[in-house]
Amino acid sequence: VKHILRAQDFDRDKISEIFNLAQKYKNTKVYDKIFKLHKEILCSLFYEPSTRTRLSFESAHLKLGGNIIGTDNAGEFSSAVKGETLEDSIKVISSYADVIVLRHSDNDAAERAAKVSNCAIINAGSGTAQHPTQSLTDLFTIHNRLERLNDIHIAIAGDLKHGRTARSLAYLLGKYDNIKISFVAPNNLQIDNDIIEYLTKHNVTHEKLESFDSVLTQVDVIYQTRLQRERHGKENHEFNLNLDAAKVSQMKENSIIMHPLPRNTEISVEVDSMPNAAYFEQASNSLPVRMALLWSIFN
Ligand code: CP
Repeated sequence: VKHILRAQDFDRDKISEIFNLAQKYKNTKVYDKIFKLHKEILCSLFYEPSTRTRLSFESAHLKLGGNIIGTDNAGEFSSAVKGETLEDSIKVISSYADVIVLRHSDNDAAERAAKVSNCAIINAGSGTAQHPTQSLTDLFTIHNRLERLNDIHIAIAGDLKHGRTARSLAYLLGKYDNIKISFVAPNNLQIDNDIIEYLTKHNVTHEKLESFDSVLTQVDVIYQTRLQRERHGKENHEFNLNLDAAKVSQMKENSIIMHPLPRNTEISVEVDSMPNAAYFEQASNSLPVRMALLWSIFN
């Protein structure tokens, strides 16, 4: 069974294979005639809210010729509300479906599900730990815009303590050459040490900063993220890292702004029409990338 659990499980060859296929899906409108599934069933099992991940996975699977079952808000609308464990739910659902796309608030949910599942598990976001298919979409967008994956200076900014997309992207970037990552966040929202240790081990240059000031004119990519208020509990975290047109206009030519979305106020709407803005293209790239991932699971 081919599970997708963690970003670091992908190597450069596999990423390249996925991106080549995703590019074909992005460039053609007749993909359903070229790469067709045989009514395999995808179960969307979302214990946390989602717009992009759930709908793009479902759209990707339907476009390939598969069928969909599932529940959003699974914590309320599935038997979890009656006390059923994730493991028991997965044992049952994996006898109904050929792939389960799972989003859950527990950091280890995808791994626990994979241990008991009879079908493939795709981690669609696990607590504050990982969101591997988002990071593949992110990397695909960087590749499409910059036409390279080596020699990149990226600022990853925002609520890095609670945001899983930043972590998964750092794992993927660690596989490429001459990468520099500037983590921009207040101290209490900075990236955890396990990521720093991983990057050090993989010879990735990295630094922690509290503002964009020293890197704004240097970076190739800003990867902005929102405050993850739903994970703050009683703590009241804030940051002042908002990007507006005046700041973005200081960036290098051909540099890009990314965001996994949804956004709050950390990127002004006025930036949307600037050539640097890549975040809506990034969201639309999730469709061909997830089509390629689903195809790779079934073939
Ligand atoms: N980027 C992302 O995971 O968005 P959703 O929460 O809408 O799925």
